[in-house]
Amino acid sequence: MICDNLDINEAGHLTFAGRDTIELAQKYATPLYLLDEDKMREKCRIYMTAMKKYFGEKAQPLYAGKALCIKDIYRIMREEGMGIDVVSPGEIYTASAGGFPMENSYFHGNNKTDSDIAFAMDTGVGYFVCDSDTELLSIEAEAARRGIKQKILLRITPGIDPHTHQSINTGRVDSKFGAAIETGQAKALVALALKQPHIALMGYHCHIGSQIFETEPFTDAADIMLGFSADMKDAFGFEAEIINLGGGMGVKYLEEHPEIDYEANIAVIADHMKAVCVKRGLKIPAVRMEPGRSIVADAGMTLYTAGTVKTIPGFKNYVSVDGGMPDNPRFALYQSPYTVVLANRMNEERDFVCTVAGRCCESGDLIQEDVPMPRPNRGDIVAVMTTGAYNHSMASNYNRIPRPPVVILRGGEDKMIIRRETYEDMLACEI
Ligand code: LLP
Repeated sequence: MICDNLDINEAGHLTFAGRDTIELAQKYATPLYLLDEDKMREKCRIYMTAMKKYFGEKAQPLYAGKALCIKDIYRIMREEGMGIDVVSPGEIYTASAGGFPMENSYFHGNNKTDSDIAFAMDTGVGYFVCDSDTELLSIEAEAARRGIKQKILLRITPGIDPHTHQSINTGRVDSKFGAAIETGQAKALVALALKQPHIALMGYHCHIGSQIFETEPFTDAADIMLGFSADMKDAFGFEAEIINLGGGMGVKYLEEHPEIDYEANIAVIADHMKAVCVKRGLKIPAVRMEPGRSIVADAGMTLYTAGTVKTIPGFKNYVSVDGGMPDNPRFALYQSPYTVVLANRMNEERDFVCTVAGRCCESGDLIQEDVPMPRPNRGDIVAVMTTGAYNHSMASNYNRIPRPPVVILRGGEDKMIIRRETYEDMLACEI
C-alpha cells in the first residue's frame, strides 16, 4: 500500500487509520472525506524535529493552509508548535477562529488589498510576505497609522524550474509572484523596505513549485537566496535573519512514486546551506519551510459509492461515482494521479480497467483513468487515496452538488468536523 495508514481487514475491506472504511461510509454516507489526525501529527513532527536538528533551534516549519484549511487543523498545528502560511483574510479568519496564535503566521499573496492588510494587522498576523513595491508602501502606511513596526519578508523569485507541472511552478522569473533577482527588482525592493520607518525587514522568501521529489531544486533555491542575502549585505549592510524556502516537497500518490524521506531531504538542504553560509560569510539564518501537501495529503481519503458501470465495446469501461470534480478537481485541472480502489472488495482480482468518472454534466469530470479494479456493482465503495491536500480546499458547488462532510479519525474515534452541506447552505447567500 502507498502509505502505512492503509491496510486490508479480514472482511476484505480497506482500512484507513485502523478503521474499516465501509463502516465509515455506512455511518456517514458518501461522498465522504476522511482525515487521519495521527498521520498529520507524524508529518508535523518529522519536519519539526528534522528542521531543528539540521538547521538549529531557530528553524521552524510553517504549515501551508491552502492545502487544507479547516479550523480543527489549526488546533493540531498549534499543539504541534508549527507556524502557518496564510494567503487570504478567509484563511486568517479560519486559523484565528481555530485558536491559532497568529504571531506565528506568515501572510502571503500577490495581491493583498488595503483592506486585507488592515484585517491581517487587526488579527495580529506576525509576518507579511511582501510581494511588490506598492504592497510594501501600503503595509508601511497602515503600520504608520497604527504606530507599529510590521515584520515582513520579501518574496523573491529565484528563477528556478523545478521540472514540475507548469501551472504549479511559481518560482520562475516570469511569474505573477514576487520580485526577480535577475531584473534588479528584488534589490530595489530591499532598498525600499529598508527606508520605511514602520517596517522591519526580517528576510526573504521563495517558493519554487509543488510536488517536487528531488532535493536539487531546493538546494539551488537556497544557493540563490543566500547569494542574494550576501549581495544585499554587501550593498546595504543588511543581513537576513530569516530565509523561507517555501513548500513543495512531493507526496507519494502512486505505488511507482518514490518513497520520500523528508528528514534526509532536510538534512541535505541544511548541509548545503551551512556550507554556503560559511563560504559567503553569513550567519546561519532562521530557516522556514512551508509544507502543505506533504503534511496533509496522505492523511486524507475520499470515499464514494459506485453508480453506473458502463462498458463501451471496443473502447473502455466507465465507473461513475457520486462525487467528482466538485470535491476533487485535480484530475480535471492537472491530470493528477491518484490510487483508486474498490474498498469493499480489496482481495478480489483487479481485472476490470476503467475510467472513474464524477457525476457532473461535463466529460472532463474524471477522477482517474486506467484504474484496475474488480468490476464494480452499483453500491460498491470506491476509495481515492491521498486526497488530504488541495481537495477540500479546492472544492466547489459545481452543478449545485453539496460539499461532502469531513470526518477526522483519532485514537480509534471518528468525529465529524464539517457536516455535509445542505441545499439551504448553497442558497444561504442568495437574497
Ligand atoms: N508556500 C507557498 C508560498 C505556496 O505558494 C505553496 C503552494 C506552498 C507553500 C505549499 O506548497 P506544497 O508543500 O503544498 O507543495 N493546487 C495545486 C497546488 C498549488 C500550490 C500552490 N502553492 C495542486 O492541487 O496541486
